[in-house]
Amino acid sequence: MSTAPIFPDPAVTDDTRPASLLATLPGTYYTDPEVFRREQEHVFEQNWVCAVRSADLDRPGAFRTVRAGRESVLVVRSRTGGLNAFLNVCRHRGARLCTAESGTVRRNLQCPYHAWTYALDGRLVAAPNLTGMPDVDRTAYGLHPVALREWLGYAWVCLAPTPPSFEETVVGAVTERLGDPAAVEGYRTESLALGRRITYDVAANWKLIVENFMECYHCATIHPELTDVLPEFADGYAAQYYVGHGAQFAPGARGFTVDGEEGFGRLPGVADTQDRRYYAVTVRPAVFLNLVPDHVILHRMFPLAVDRTVVECDWLYAPEVVDSGADLSRSVELFHRVNSQDFEACERTQPAMASRAYREGGVLVPTEHHIGAFHSWLRGALGEEPAA
Ligand code: FES
Ligand code: FE
Repeated sequence: MSTAPIFPDPAVTDDTRPASLLATLPGTYYTDPEVFRREQEHVFEQNWVCAVRSADLDRPGAFRTVRAGRESVLVVRSRTGGLNAFLNVCRHRGARLCTAESGTVRRNLQCPYHAWTYALDGRLVAAPNLTGMPDVDRTAYGLHPVALREWLGYAWVCLAPTPPSFEETVVGAVTERLGDPAAVEGYRTESLALGRRITYDVAANWKLIVENFMECYHCATIHPELTDVLPEFADGYAAQYYVGHGAQFAPGARGFTVDGEEGFGRLPGVADTQDRRYYAVTVRPAVFLNLVPDHVILHRMFPLAVDRTVVECDWLYAPEVVDSGADLSRSVELFHRVNSQDFEACERTQPAMASRAYREGGVLVPTEHHIGAFHSWLRGALGEEPAA
């Protein structure tokens, strides 16, 4: 495989560009199926992918299938209470084992083709006529396991034979952004309950969505409700621009809601210094974590094609808030509007990536310069330049 840049990019070495402007990636990175394939292989199949909210699999046999890179991964709750992940491929002749996105099996996972049957820990336990094949060591024909870690109440999976350090990559990204490993712990995300989940099917390349999330240059233009609550966003500096910085609520905002009215107080572990502030974290490649005093919003992205990305967004609240049947609508509506506004902007941008006008890419203004680090990281992962 060639490790040369897909597009020889004169803009990158263009020293006539003013220092205020950095180059973006060329348009082809957002449209070329070969780039997408290389990203799947070198990014999504090599890094930890946030797959499933652990509590969604609430009993033995409960499963969820998710896309990780080019693979379908099956995450299932075992009899002993833990979670296991496997490639969703039957060891007999390769049929997709679970075709449903989610469900619950009673005891075992049975392939619908010839009925090879696997325990919830992946062992092959039965197959028609297996007793007539005494030379077959059934322990050698279990499902292929996939590495799994639980953190923040989610199961993260990694297809790499030797996964990168979870602490250095996933936990490290959150620590690097918040400046303190304890900063995320106070939200006790793993103990929160799901208040709402919205799945967005976005007709845009996953990187447009990441880049958009990382900057706030667009906030004043497209997010009127958000800048009402977080007025500093109207200046264009995203919360991610400064290490440890959380955007302060407007003096008149009573909560992080669409109309600035009261939310649900403060989660018990949220520090005074974190109160009335919004923190945003990007965990590369495809997770966004949003922290506000009374809830946590977590986005998981699943790139399905070079121009299509499914984003699953969870709003998580204290269990007693969800159990009380409280009206979450004004709380959810704020970020649902932000999501809709952002994804509409990404969808408007996607077709133009194929234009000759964008052949050499565009530019990043100073409030977006940190996006350059994402591009360097990506190019490093693709073997095009030293990893940033
Ligand atoms: Fe699964 Fe044959 S392909 S049992
Ligand atoms: Fe936005």
